[in-house]
Amino acid sequence: MKKPTVYCCKNHSELGRVAASLIAQQISQNPNLVLGLPSGKTPITVYQELRKKYDNEELDCSGVTTFNLDEYFQRGKGDADSYYTFMHERLFKYVPFKASYLPNAKPADPKEMSTSEYLTLIDEECSKYDKLIEDCGGIDVQLVGIGSNGHIGFNEPSDEISGGTYLVDLAEQTIKDNAEKFYNGNKSEVPKSAISMGMEQIMKAKMIILIANGISKAKAIYDALEGPITPQVPASLLREHEDVIFVIDEATASLID
Ligand code: GLP
Repeated sequence: MKKPTVYCCKNHSELGRVAASLIAQQISQNPNLVLGLPSGKTPITVYQELRKKYDNEELDCSGVTTFNLDEYFQRGKGDADSYYTFMHERLFKYVPFKASYLPNAKPADPKEMSTSEYLTLIDEECSKYDKLIEDCGGIDVQLVGIGSNGHIGFNEPSDEISGGTYLVDLAEQTIKDNAEKFYNGNKSEVPKSAISMGMEQIMKAKMIILIANGISKAKAIYDALEGPITPQVPASLLREHEDVIFVIDEATASLID
């Protein structure tokens, strides 16, 4: 098993520059790259750097197709707190891509059908998403963040490894973290479930770049790189991938050797 490459950056800004350069390099080698993307605070500097590169005519994404890792359940276009809106505001409005997809977490009005009909519809949407990724040739480069509990996308600590895209309940820790980051600490406003690519789907990417910054991620990074490989720490599973790069800052790296 090849060990993950770890780039340790001074701070969040440098992390953005390093990760954006890695992505830009891959795009220059393959202008039709299929790129997996996350939302969250961490990728903000990466998206700022990609935008700078585009503005300076150093980056052409017109052949690049993007797939986002996840979306809150029953959120989407038009919802201020959706990942759709986040991606649009942080990246897609500035940098044109060939096509950009997010899981469809709001396929119909749930009031118009029974719960089981609605869940079947969600299941179909998840399968369609996986099929679309496959039809595009699979993900070449997958950028991921990490939760403070070691989650990737919304794959929370679990006894089993998740497969394809699916509907998942958020862990209490994730609800708390996301409330602090995006909802002024108001946990009741945070959606309690989401549609996420599963770990097996994520692991199919040809290259994975994990980004993390700040002391609040230090334990998760330690567990991911030095703890047991287990679905209880979904990020630890990345160590079974042949081409994974961790781009982290000094605070996050403080517990690793
Ligand atoms: C969220 C997202 C993840 C993200 C993680 C860390 O819950 N579902 O995809 O990587 O939390 O986010 P942040 O970068 O804001 O710390």
